[in-house]
Amino acid sequence: MDQDSQKRSVAEAALAIVEPRLERDTVLGIGTGSTANLFIDGLAELAHLFDGAVASSEASAERLRQHQIPVYDLNAVNRIELYIDGADECNEALQLIKGGGAALTREKIVAAVAQEFICIADESKWVPVLGDFPLPVEAIPMARSHVARELVKLGGDPVLREGVITDNGNCILDVHNFPIAEPLATEARINAIVGVVCNGLFAARPADQLLLGTAQGVQTFRRPASSLD
Ligand code: A5P
Repeated sequence: MDQDSQKRSVAEAALAIVEPRLERDTVLGIGTGSTANLFIDGLAELAHLFDGAVASSEASAERLRQHQIPVYDLNAVNRIELYIDGADECNEALQLIKGGGAALTREKIVAAVAQEFICIADESKWVPVLGDFPLPVEAIPMARSHVARELVKLGGDPVLREGVITDNGNCILDVHNFPIAEPLATEARINAIVGVVCNGLFAARPADQLLLGTAQGVQTFRRPASSLD
């Protein structure tokens, strides 16, 4: 099964999980990227079964609206039942790197609110140690150089993502050559740099369930019991 087919199969698997849980007042959190787009397209057929969605990016919001799925401001919503999103990398603890699509901050906010986070990804995203994929860090534009110097002190090689302004009006530094042995500590350390809005490590709030597309089919991983709150 090639990468596109794997993305399609995990999107379908997520739809099968989500459908029986939809009720008239259900609000879903919807992520960003090509895998999330496949999920959104499939969700169109279920639009009559639930209330609407909160999107993690303007691009996903637009796609949802095109399918006549109501899109809500997060501040207008009390509860998000499920958040469905892709990832750039995932490990066996279901910790993730996200932000390849520059939507990391909104993704992290929606994930924080959601009762349950289902990650959908093809097998190219599965790694023993996070960090092959350059870690995205969203920074306030005036703090860009300061943040970059601090990231160098932590051992990484930050590179400004040219021509990209996030939905929040900020810039993205992609940190290369930065293997992440301690995701929880690294997430907190980077967030403590003045000028950082958010980083793409999802370790404090990992996925609860990972649907991984493989050549053999979809594999399901659940967050290890020891890490459950
Ligand atoms: C968006 O900012 C990212 O976190 C995406 O979830 C990630 O880039 C996955 O994208 P694909 O589904 O296109 O691989």
